Amino acid sequence: MKTEDFRHHAHELVDWIADYLEHADRYPVCSRSRPGDLLAALPASPPEEPEPMADVLADFRRDVLPGITHWNHPRFFAYFPANNSGPSILGEMLSAGLGVNGMLWQTSPAATELEQRTLEWLAQLVGLPAGFHGVIHDTASTATFCALVCARERTTGFAANAEGLGAATAATRGPLRVYASREAHSSVLKGARLAGFGAANVVSVAIDAQRRLDPADLERLIAADRAAGKAPCAVVATVGTTGCTAVDPLASIGPLARRHGLWLHVDAALAGAAAILPSMRWLLDGVEHADSLVFNPHKWLLVNFDCSAFYVRDPDHLQRAMAIHPEYLRTTRDAEVVNYMDWGLQLGRRFRALKLWFVLRTYGARQLRAFVAAHLELAQEFAGWVEATSDWELLAPVPLNTVCFRWRPAGVVDEARLNELNAALMARVNAEGTVYLTHTKLDDVTTLRLAVGQRATTREHVQQAWAALQAAARDIAEGEHS
Ligand SMILES: Cc1ncc(COP(=O)(O)O)c(C=O)c1O
Repeated sequence: MKTEDFRHHAHELVDWIADYLEHADRYPVCSRSRPGDLLAALPASPPEEPEPMADVLADFRRDVLPGITHWNHPRFFAYFPANNSGPSILGEMLSAGLGVNGMLWQTSPAATELEQRTLEWLAQLVGLPAGFHGVIHDTASTATFCALVCARERTTGFAANAEGLGAATAATRGPLRVYASREAHSSVLKGARLAGFGAANVVSVAIDAQRRLDPADLERLIAADRAAGKAPCAVVATVGTTGCTAVDPLASIGPLARRHGLWLHVDAALAGAAAILPSMRWLLDGVEHADSLVFNPHKWLLVNFDCSAFYVRDPDHLQRAMAIHPEYLRTTRDAEVVNYMDWGLQLGRRFRALKLWFVLRTYGARQLRAFVAAHLELAQEFAGWVEATSDWELLAPVPLNTVCFRWRPAGVVDEARLNELNAALMARVNAEGTVYLTHTKLDDVTTLRLAVGQRATTREHVQQAWAALQAAARDIAEGEHS
Protein backbone atom coordinates (compact mmCIF):
# COMPACT_ATOMS: atom_id res chain seq x y z
CA MET A 1 0.00 0.00 0.00
CA LYS A 2 1.34 3.40 -0.93
CA THR A 3 1.80 5.90 1.88
CA GLU A 4 -0.83 8.17 0.39
CA ASP A 5 -3.34 5.34 0.18
CA PHE A 6 -2.57 4.33 3.75
CA ARG A 7 -3.15 7.89 4.89
CA HIS A 8 -6.42 8.11 2.98
CA HIS A 9 -7.84 4.84 4.29
CA ALA A 10 -6.58 5.45 7.83
CA HIS A 11 -8.44 8.76 7.93
CA GLU A 12 -11.51 7.11 6.49
CA LEU A 13 -11.37 4.32 9.08
CA VAL A 14 -10.76 6.67 11.98
CA ASP A 15 -13.83 8.61 10.90
CA TRP A 16 -15.78 5.38 10.72
CA ILE A 17 -14.61 4.32 14.20
CA ALA A 18 -15.40 7.75 15.67
CA ASP A 19 -18.94 7.56 14.28
CA TYR A 20 -19.25 4.00 15.48
CA LEU A 21 -18.20 4.91 19.00
CA GLU A 22 -20.66 7.77 19.01
CA HIS A 23 -23.55 5.80 17.56
CA ALA A 24 -23.01 2.14 18.45
CA ASP A 25 -26.57 2.21 19.74
CA ARG A 26 -27.86 2.27 16.16
CA TYR A 27 -27.09 -1.42 15.85
CA PRO A 28 -28.86 -4.38 17.45
CA VAL A 29 -26.60 -5.14 20.41
CA CYS A 30 -26.32 -8.84 19.76
CA SER A 31 -25.59 -9.96 16.21
CA ARG A 32 -28.52 -11.56 14.42
CA SER A 33 -26.29 -13.68 12.23
CA ARG A 34 -27.11 -17.31 11.85
CA PRO A 35 -24.38 -19.93 11.85
CA GLY A 36 -22.61 -19.96 8.50
CA ASP A 37 -23.88 -16.57 7.25
CA LEU A 38 -20.47 -15.02 6.86
CA LEU A 39 -18.86 -18.24 5.69
CA ALA A 40 -21.41 -18.36 2.89
CA ALA A 41 -20.57 -14.80 1.87
CA LEU A 42 -16.80 -15.35 1.77
CA PRO A 43 -15.03 -16.97 -1.18
CA ALA A 44 -13.61 -20.40 -0.38
CA SER A 45 -10.16 -19.49 -1.74
CA PRO A 46 -7.94 -16.45 -1.17
CA PRO A 47 -7.63 -13.83 -3.92
CA GLU A 48 -4.81 -14.40 -6.37
CA GLU A 49 -4.65 -10.78 -7.44
CA PRO A 50 -4.52 -7.68 -5.22
CA GLU A 51 -7.88 -6.16 -4.49
CA PRO A 52 -8.56 -2.50 -3.75
CA MET A 53 -8.81 -1.60 -0.08
CA ALA A 54 -12.06 0.21 -0.87
CA ASP A 55 -13.59 -3.13 -1.90
CA VAL A 56 -12.38 -4.82 1.27
CA LEU A 57 -13.88 -2.07 3.42
CA ALA A 58 -17.15 -2.25 1.51
CA ASP A 59 -17.27 -6.00 2.16
CA PHE A 60 -16.51 -5.37 5.80
CA ARG A 61 -19.58 -3.16 6.02
CA ARG A 62 -21.82 -5.46 4.03
CA ASP A 63 -20.73 -8.93 5.18
CA VAL A 64 -18.76 -8.65 8.41
CA LEU A 65 -20.56 -5.93 10.33
CA PRO A 66 -23.85 -7.84 10.59
CA GLY A 67 -21.91 -10.58 12.36
CA ILE A 68 -20.63 -8.22 15.03
CA THR A 69 -22.02 -8.25 18.54
CA HIS A 70 -21.50 -4.74 19.79
CA TRP A 71 -19.57 -5.07 23.02
CA ASN A 72 -19.30 -1.31 23.35
CA HIS A 73 -22.97 -0.66 22.81
CA PRO A 74 -24.32 1.27 25.80
CA ARG A 75 -26.96 -1.40 26.30
CA PHE A 76 -24.53 -4.31 26.31
CA PHE A 77 -25.11 -5.83 29.75
CA ALA A 78 -23.98 -9.37 28.99
CA TYR A 79 -21.15 -11.44 30.52
CA PHE A 80 -18.66 -9.03 32.01
CA PRO A 81 -17.79 -5.94 30.00
CA ALA A 82 -14.80 -5.56 27.69
CA ASN A 83 -14.94 -1.81 27.30
CA ASN A 84 -12.78 0.59 25.34
CA SER A 85 -12.14 4.29 24.88
CA GLY A 86 -10.71 6.77 22.39
CA PRO A 87 -7.29 6.99 24.08
CA SER A 88 -7.02 3.23 24.26
CA ILE A 89 -7.85 2.80 20.59
CA LEU A 90 -5.22 5.43 19.73
CA GLY A 91 -2.67 3.55 21.82
CA GLU A 92 -3.59 0.30 20.08
CA MET A 93 -3.26 1.98 16.70
CA LEU A 94 0.13 3.37 17.56
CA SER A 95 1.26 0.00 18.81
CA ALA A 96 0.21 -1.55 15.50
CA GLY A 97 1.97 1.24 13.65
CA LEU A 98 5.20 0.70 15.53
CA GLY A 99 4.80 -3.04 15.23
CA VAL A 100 7.41 -3.78 17.86
CA ASN A 101 7.91 -7.10 19.54
CA GLY A 102 8.68 -6.45 23.20
CA MET A 103 10.08 -9.88 23.96
CA LEU A 104 13.37 -8.50 25.32
CA TRP A 105 14.29 -5.16 26.80
CA GLN A 106 16.64 -4.69 23.86
CA THR A 107 13.98 -5.36 21.24
CA SER A 108 12.32 -2.11 22.35
CA PRO A 109 13.51 -0.71 25.67
CA ALA A 110 10.52 1.62 25.87
CA ALA A 111 8.03 -1.22 25.52
CA THR A 112 9.50 -2.92 28.59
CA GLU A 113 9.95 0.17 30.70
CA LEU A 114 6.52 1.59 29.90
CA GLU A 115 5.04 -1.75 30.92
CA GLN A 116 6.98 -1.71 34.18
CA ARG A 117 5.96 1.82 35.07
CA THR A 118 2.29 1.58 34.02
CA LEU A 119 1.91 -1.60 36.05
CA GLU A 120 3.46 0.15 39.05
CA TRP A 121 0.89 2.92 38.58
CA LEU A 122 -1.91 0.43 38.32
CA ALA A 123 -0.75 -1.35 41.48
CA GLN A 124 -0.82 1.97 43.32
CA LEU A 125 -4.26 2.79 41.94
CA VAL A 126 -5.83 -0.41 43.25
CA GLY A 127 -3.89 -0.25 46.50
CA LEU A 128 -1.67 -3.31 46.12
CA PRO A 129 0.89 -3.42 48.92
CA ALA A 130 4.54 -2.87 47.97
CA GLY A 131 6.36 -5.90 46.68
CA PHE A 132 4.15 -6.96 43.78
CA HIS A 133 5.74 -6.93 40.32
CA GLY A 134 3.62 -6.77 37.20
CA VAL A 135 3.54 -8.04 33.65
CA ILE A 136 0.85 -7.65 31.00
CA HIS A 137 -0.67 -10.83 29.63
CA ASP A 138 -3.37 -11.21 27.03
CA THR A 139 -6.00 -12.58 29.40
CA ALA A 140 -6.67 -13.63 32.96
CA SER A 141 -6.76 -17.23 31.79
CA THR A 142 -3.11 -17.03 30.73
CA ALA A 143 -2.15 -15.37 34.01
CA THR A 144 -3.92 -18.02 36.07
CA PHE A 145 -2.21 -20.74 34.06
CA CYS A 146 1.17 -19.11 34.79
CA ALA A 147 0.30 -18.83 38.49
CA LEU A 148 -0.54 -22.54 38.62
CA VAL A 149 2.74 -23.42 36.92
CA CYS A 150 4.54 -21.30 39.54
CA ALA A 151 2.67 -23.12 42.30
CA ARG A 152 3.52 -26.50 40.79
CA GLU A 153 7.20 -25.63 40.61
CA ARG A 154 7.31 -24.28 44.14
CA THR A 155 5.73 -27.39 45.61
CA THR A 156 7.91 -29.74 43.58
CA GLY A 157 11.13 -27.76 43.97
CA PHE A 158 11.24 -27.32 40.17
CA ALA A 159 11.20 -31.07 39.70
CA ALA A 160 8.08 -30.92 37.51
CA ASN A 161 9.89 -28.67 35.03
CA ALA A 162 12.99 -30.82 35.17
CA GLU A 163 11.65 -34.35 35.32
CA GLY A 164 7.99 -34.13 34.38
CA LEU A 165 5.01 -34.26 36.64
CA GLY A 166 5.12 -38.02 37.13
CA ALA A 167 8.58 -37.94 38.64
CA ALA A 168 7.79 -34.80 40.63
CA THR A 169 4.68 -36.21 42.25
CA ALA A 170 6.57 -39.38 43.08
CA ALA A 171 8.77 -37.06 45.13
CA THR A 172 5.81 -35.29 46.77
CA ARG A 173 4.37 -38.81 47.29
CA GLY A 174 0.96 -37.90 45.95
CA PRO A 175 -0.88 -35.80 43.40
CA LEU A 176 -0.68 -32.01 43.61
CA ARG A 177 -3.97 -30.46 44.65
CA VAL A 178 -5.52 -27.13 43.67
CA TYR A 179 -8.40 -25.66 45.66
CA ALA A 180 -11.05 -23.24 44.47
CA SER A 181 -14.73 -22.77 45.09
CA ARG A 182 -17.22 -24.08 42.58
CA GLU A 183 -17.95 -20.45 41.70
CA ALA A 184 -14.37 -20.02 40.41
CA HIS A 185 -13.99 -19.26 36.71
CA SER A 186 -13.51 -22.12 34.27
CA SER A 187 -10.02 -20.78 33.54
CA VAL A 188 -8.91 -22.29 36.87
CA LEU A 189 -9.90 -25.77 35.80
CA LYS A 190 -8.46 -25.21 32.34
CA GLY A 191 -5.19 -23.86 33.74
CA ALA A 192 -4.92 -26.76 36.18
CA ARG A 193 -5.56 -29.29 33.43
CA LEU A 194 -3.02 -27.72 31.10
CA ALA A 195 -0.44 -27.36 33.86
CA GLY A 196 -0.68 -31.09 34.43
CA PHE A 197 -2.54 -31.20 37.74
CA GLY A 198 -5.43 -33.17 36.25
CA ALA A 199 -9.06 -32.18 36.59
CA ALA A 200 -9.51 -34.75 39.35
CA ASN A 201 -7.08 -32.77 41.51
CA VAL A 202 -9.00 -29.52 41.34
CA VAL A 203 -10.83 -29.62 44.64
CA SER A 204 -14.13 -27.83 45.00
CA VAL A 205 -14.32 -25.91 48.26
CA ALA A 206 -17.72 -25.28 49.83
CA ILE A 207 -19.28 -21.84 49.63
CA ASP A 208 -21.29 -19.85 52.14
CA ALA A 209 -24.74 -18.36 51.65
CA GLN A 210 -23.21 -15.48 49.67
CA ARG A 211 -21.28 -17.91 47.45
CA ARG A 212 -17.90 -17.01 48.95
CA LEU A 213 -15.29 -19.69 49.46
CA ASP A 214 -15.58 -21.13 52.97
CA PRO A 215 -12.12 -21.04 54.63
CA ALA A 216 -13.13 -23.64 57.23
CA ASP A 217 -13.95 -26.10 54.47
CA LEU A 218 -10.66 -25.27 52.76
CA GLU A 219 -8.79 -26.09 55.96
CA ARG A 220 -10.70 -29.35 56.31
CA LEU A 221 -10.02 -30.38 52.70
CA ILE A 222 -6.31 -29.64 53.02
CA ALA A 223 -6.07 -31.75 56.18
CA ALA A 224 -8.01 -34.60 54.57
CA ASP A 225 -5.76 -34.49 51.50
CA ARG A 226 -2.60 -34.57 53.58
CA ALA A 227 -3.95 -37.48 55.57
CA ALA A 228 -4.65 -39.28 52.29
CA GLY A 229 -1.09 -38.73 51.05
CA LYS A 230 -1.95 -35.97 48.59
CA ALA A 231 0.06 -32.80 48.14
CA PRO A 232 -1.82 -29.49 48.65
CA CYS A 233 -0.27 -27.01 46.26
CA ALA A 234 -2.37 -23.96 45.40
CA VAL A 235 -5.57 -22.14 46.19
CA VAL A 236 -7.28 -19.79 43.76
CA ALA A 237 -9.47 -17.19 45.45
CA THR A 238 -11.88 -15.21 43.34
CA VAL A 239 -12.60 -11.57 43.99
CA GLY A 240 -15.74 -11.00 41.97
CA THR A 241 -16.93 -14.39 40.74
CA THR A 242 -18.26 -14.56 37.21
CA GLY A 243 -21.67 -15.84 38.19
CA CYS A 244 -22.64 -13.32 40.84
CA THR A 245 -19.49 -11.30 41.81
CA ALA A 246 -19.04 -13.01 45.17
CA VAL A 247 -15.85 -11.97 46.93
CA ASP A 248 -13.82 -14.75 48.55
CA PRO A 249 -12.40 -13.66 51.94
CA LEU A 250 -8.70 -13.19 51.24
CA ALA A 251 -8.04 -12.09 54.81
CA SER A 252 -8.96 -15.58 56.06
CA ILE A 253 -7.75 -17.59 53.08
CA GLY A 254 -4.35 -15.87 52.99
CA PRO A 255 -2.99 -16.86 56.42
CA LEU A 256 -4.38 -20.36 55.92
CA ALA A 257 -2.59 -20.70 52.58
CA ARG A 258 0.63 -19.47 54.18
CA ARG A 259 0.34 -21.89 57.08
CA HIS A 260 -0.06 -24.82 54.72
CA GLY A 261 2.53 -23.66 52.20
CA LEU A 262 -0.03 -23.19 49.42
CA TRP A 263 0.42 -20.75 46.59
CA LEU A 264 -2.40 -18.19 46.79
CA HIS A 265 -3.50 -16.84 43.43
CA VAL A 266 -6.17 -14.14 43.40
CA ASP A 267 -8.44 -13.98 40.36
CA ALA A 268 -9.86 -10.46 40.41
CA ALA A 269 -10.40 -10.38 36.64
CA LEU A 270 -13.28 -7.94 36.76
CA ALA A 271 -13.35 -6.65 40.31
CA GLY A 272 -9.72 -5.52 40.55
CA ALA A 273 -10.71 -2.40 38.62
CA ALA A 274 -13.20 -1.44 41.34
CA ALA A 275 -10.41 -1.31 43.90
CA ILE A 276 -9.35 2.03 42.38
CA LEU A 277 -12.17 3.43 44.55
CA PRO A 278 -11.10 3.90 48.17
CA SER A 279 -14.58 2.77 49.20
CA MET A 280 -13.99 -0.55 47.43
CA ARG A 281 -10.51 -1.30 48.75
CA TRP A 282 -12.07 -3.90 51.03
CA LEU A 283 -12.25 -6.14 47.97
CA LEU A 284 -8.54 -6.78 48.28
CA ASP A 285 -8.31 -6.95 52.08
CA GLY A 286 -5.80 -9.71 52.75
CA VAL A 287 -4.10 -9.47 49.34
CA GLU A 288 -0.82 -9.01 51.19
CA HIS A 289 -0.88 -12.80 51.69
CA ALA A 290 -1.18 -13.53 47.98
CA ASP A 291 1.59 -14.89 45.81
CA SER A 292 -0.05 -13.66 42.62
CA LEU A 293 -3.03 -11.70 41.41
CA VAL A 294 -4.62 -10.95 38.08
CA PHE A 295 -7.08 -8.32 36.96
CA ASN A 296 -8.12 -7.11 33.56
CA PRO A 297 -7.97 -3.43 32.66
CA HIS A 298 -9.59 -4.64 29.44
CA LYS A 299 -12.74 -5.52 31.29
CA TRP A 300 -13.69 -2.43 33.21
CA LEU A 301 -10.96 0.17 32.96
CA LEU A 302 -11.44 1.57 29.46
CA VAL A 303 -8.49 -0.27 27.95
CA ASN A 304 -9.62 -2.22 24.92
CA PHE A 305 -9.18 -5.95 24.71
CA ASP A 306 -6.66 -7.40 25.39
CA CYS A 307 -4.78 -6.22 28.47
CA SER A 308 -4.56 -8.30 31.62
CA ALA A 309 -2.37 -7.24 34.54
CA PHE A 310 -0.61 -10.12 36.31
CA TYR A 311 1.25 -9.42 39.54
CA VAL A 312 3.61 -11.73 41.39
CA ARG A 313 5.42 -11.36 44.68
CA ASP A 314 8.48 -13.23 43.55
CA PRO A 315 9.41 -12.48 39.97
CA ASP A 316 12.57 -14.57 40.30
CA HIS A 317 10.43 -17.60 40.97
CA LEU A 318 8.19 -16.81 38.00
CA GLN A 319 11.20 -16.41 35.76
CA ARG A 320 12.79 -19.59 37.00
CA ALA A 321 9.58 -21.42 36.14
CA MET A 322 9.24 -19.82 32.69
CA ALA A 323 12.61 -18.77 31.33
CA ILE A 324 14.67 -20.55 28.70
CA HIS A 325 17.67 -18.76 27.23
CA PRO A 326 18.83 -19.98 23.86
CA GLU A 327 21.88 -18.23 22.48
CA TYR A 328 19.90 -16.28 19.88
CA LEU A 329 17.90 -14.53 22.61
CA ARG A 330 20.83 -13.51 24.80
CA THR A 331 21.90 -9.87 25.00
CA THR A 332 24.63 -8.03 26.82
CA ARG A 333 22.02 -6.26 28.96
CA ASP A 334 20.32 -9.32 30.39
CA ALA A 335 21.75 -8.93 33.89
CA GLU A 336 20.50 -5.36 34.33
CA VAL A 337 17.06 -5.30 32.68
CA VAL A 338 13.68 -6.99 32.65
CA ASN A 339 13.12 -9.31 29.70
CA TYR A 340 9.40 -9.91 29.73
CA MET A 341 9.68 -13.04 27.57
CA ASP A 342 10.81 -14.70 30.83
CA TRP A 343 7.58 -13.74 32.64
CA GLY A 344 5.14 -15.93 30.76
CA LEU A 345 4.46 -18.41 28.02
CA GLN A 346 4.88 -16.18 25.01
CA LEU A 347 8.14 -15.18 23.44
CA GLY A 348 6.80 -12.41 21.19
CA ARG A 349 4.87 -9.70 22.98
CA ARG A 350 2.70 -6.84 21.77
CA PHE A 351 3.27 -3.31 23.05
CA ARG A 352 0.09 -3.27 25.15
CA ALA A 353 1.43 -0.82 27.72
CA LEU A 354 0.95 2.03 25.24
CA LYS A 355 -2.82 1.88 25.37
CA LEU A 356 -2.78 1.46 29.13
CA TRP A 357 -0.52 4.50 29.45
CA PHE A 358 -2.75 6.56 27.15
CA VAL A 359 -5.80 5.69 29.24
CA LEU A 360 -4.19 6.28 32.63
CA ARG A 361 -2.85 9.64 31.51
CA THR A 362 -5.79 11.04 29.63
CA TYR A 363 -8.45 9.99 32.13
CA GLY A 364 -6.37 10.35 35.24
CA ALA A 365 -7.23 8.47 38.41
CA ARG A 366 -10.04 10.87 39.23
CA GLN A 367 -12.05 10.24 36.08
CA LEU A 368 -11.42 6.51 36.18
CA ARG A 369 -12.78 6.42 39.71
CA ALA A 370 -15.83 8.41 38.67
CA PHE A 371 -16.39 6.05 35.74
CA VAL A 372 -16.37 2.91 37.90
CA ALA A 373 -18.37 4.59 40.69
CA ALA A 374 -21.12 5.51 38.23
CA HIS A 375 -21.48 1.88 37.18
CA LEU A 376 -21.65 0.72 40.77
CA GLU A 377 -24.44 3.19 41.39
CA LEU A 378 -26.37 2.13 38.30
CA ALA A 379 -26.17 -1.51 39.36
CA GLN A 380 -27.51 -0.56 42.81
CA GLU A 381 -30.29 1.42 41.23
CA PHE A 382 -31.31 -1.44 38.95
CA ALA A 383 -31.21 -3.84 41.90
CA GLY A 384 -33.50 -1.44 43.78
CA TRP A 385 -36.04 -1.49 40.93
CA VAL A 386 -36.02 -5.28 40.88
CA GLU A 387 -36.44 -5.48 44.63
CA ALA A 388 -39.27 -2.96 44.66
CA THR A 389 -41.30 -4.69 41.94
CA SER A 390 -43.58 -7.62 42.61
CA ASP A 391 -43.01 -10.57 40.26
CA TRP A 392 -39.25 -9.92 40.21
CA GLU A 393 -36.56 -10.96 42.65
CA LEU A 394 -32.87 -10.51 43.33
CA LEU A 395 -30.93 -13.75 43.52
CA ALA A 396 -27.64 -12.56 45.01
CA PRO A 397 -26.14 -9.58 46.80
CA VAL A 398 -24.81 -6.83 44.51
CA PRO A 399 -21.36 -5.80 45.74
CA LEU A 400 -20.19 -4.69 42.27
CA ASN A 401 -21.61 -3.91 38.84
CA THR A 402 -23.59 -7.09 38.22
CA VAL A 403 -27.17 -7.74 39.24
CA CYS A 404 -28.45 -11.33 39.43
CA PHE A 405 -32.21 -11.51 39.26
CA ARG A 406 -35.20 -13.28 37.76
CA TRP A 407 -38.79 -12.83 36.80
CA ARG A 408 -41.07 -14.65 39.20
CA PRO A 409 -44.66 -14.14 38.10
CA ALA A 410 -47.24 -14.50 40.85
CA GLY A 411 -48.61 -17.99 41.11
CA VAL A 412 -45.69 -19.76 39.42
CA VAL A 413 -43.89 -21.81 42.02
CA ASP A 414 -42.48 -24.67 40.01
CA GLU A 415 -38.74 -24.07 39.69
CA ALA A 416 -38.43 -25.82 36.33
CA ARG A 417 -41.20 -23.60 34.95
CA LEU A 418 -39.52 -20.49 36.35
CA ASN A 419 -36.32 -21.53 34.63
CA GLU A 420 -38.15 -21.92 31.33
CA LEU A 421 -39.88 -18.58 31.68
CA ASN A 422 -36.65 -16.76 32.41
CA ALA A 423 -34.86 -18.43 29.53
CA ALA A 424 -37.73 -17.38 27.26
CA LEU A 425 -37.63 -13.84 28.64
CA MET A 426 -33.93 -13.48 27.98
CA ALA A 427 -34.23 -14.86 24.48
CA ARG A 428 -37.02 -12.40 23.77
CA VAL A 429 -35.26 -9.24 24.94
CA ASN A 430 -32.04 -10.24 23.24
CA ALA A 431 -33.82 -10.94 19.96
CA GLU A 432 -35.38 -7.48 20.03
CA GLY A 433 -31.86 -6.08 19.84
CA THR A 434 -32.20 -3.18 22.24
CA VAL A 435 -30.32 -4.89 25.05
CA TYR A 436 -28.09 -7.87 25.49
CA LEU A 437 -28.11 -9.85 28.72
CA THR A 438 -26.73 -13.28 29.52
CA HIS A 439 -27.54 -15.80 32.21
CA THR A 440 -25.99 -18.21 34.62
CA LYS A 441 -27.27 -20.86 36.96
CA LEU A 442 -26.99 -20.24 40.67
CA ASP A 443 -27.47 -23.73 42.01
CA ASP A 444 -30.20 -24.88 39.65
CA VAL A 445 -31.88 -21.52 39.27
CA THR A 446 -31.73 -19.84 35.87
CA THR A 447 -30.41 -16.41 36.74
CA LEU A 448 -30.42 -13.33 34.54
CA ARG A 449 -27.36 -11.13 34.88
CA LEU A 450 -27.19 -7.44 34.12
CA ALA A 451 -23.58 -6.26 34.18
CA VAL A 452 -23.06 -2.51 33.86
CA GLY A 453 -19.68 -1.64 32.38
CA GLN A 454 -19.75 0.16 29.06
CA ARG A 455 -18.15 3.53 28.53
CA ALA A 456 -21.31 5.17 27.22
CA THR A 457 -23.87 3.49 29.48
CA THR A 458 -26.05 5.94 31.37
CA ARG A 459 -29.03 5.69 33.68
CA GLU A 460 -31.30 5.99 30.66
CA HIS A 461 -29.82 2.84 29.10
CA VAL A 462 -30.31 0.89 32.31
CA GLN A 463 -33.90 2.15 32.48
CA GLN A 464 -34.41 1.00 28.90
CA ALA A 465 -33.15 -2.44 29.84
CA TRP A 466 -35.57 -2.58 32.76
CA ALA A 467 -38.43 -1.44 30.54
CA ALA A 468 -37.53 -4.01 27.86
CA LEU A 469 -37.48 -6.79 30.46
CA GLN A 470 -40.82 -5.80 31.91
CA ALA A 471 -42.42 -5.47 28.48
CA ALA A 472 -41.11 -8.88 27.42
CA ALA A 473 -42.45 -10.40 30.65
CA ARG A 474 -45.87 -8.86 29.98
CA ASP A 475 -45.88 -10.20 26.41
CA ILE A 476 -44.98 -13.69 27.55
CA ALA A 477 -47.60 -13.61 30.30
CA GLU A 478 -50.27 -12.38 27.88
CA GLY A 479 -49.27 -15.00 25.33
CA GLU A 480 -49.75 -17.66 27.98
CA HIS A 481 -53.22 -16.46 28.87
CA SER A 482 -54.52 -15.96 25.34
C1 LIG B 1 -13.51 -14.16 37.49
C2 LIG B 1 -12.98 -14.36 36.11
N1 LIG B 1 -11.78 -14.93 35.93
C3 LIG B 1 -11.28 -15.14 34.71
C4 LIG B 1 -11.96 -14.77 33.59
C5 LIG B 1 -11.35 -15.03 32.25
O1 LIG B 1 -10.96 -13.84 31.68
P1 LIG B 1 -10.08 -13.80 30.36
O2 LIG B 1 -11.03 -13.72 29.23
O3 LIG B 1 -9.26 -12.56 30.53
O4 LIG B 1 -9.25 -15.03 30.33
C6 LIG B 1 -13.21 -14.17 33.71
C7 LIG B 1 -13.97 -13.75 32.53
O5 LIG B 1 -14.98 -13.13 32.58
C8 LIG B 1 -13.73 -13.97 35.00
O6 LIG B 1 -14.94 -13.44 35.17
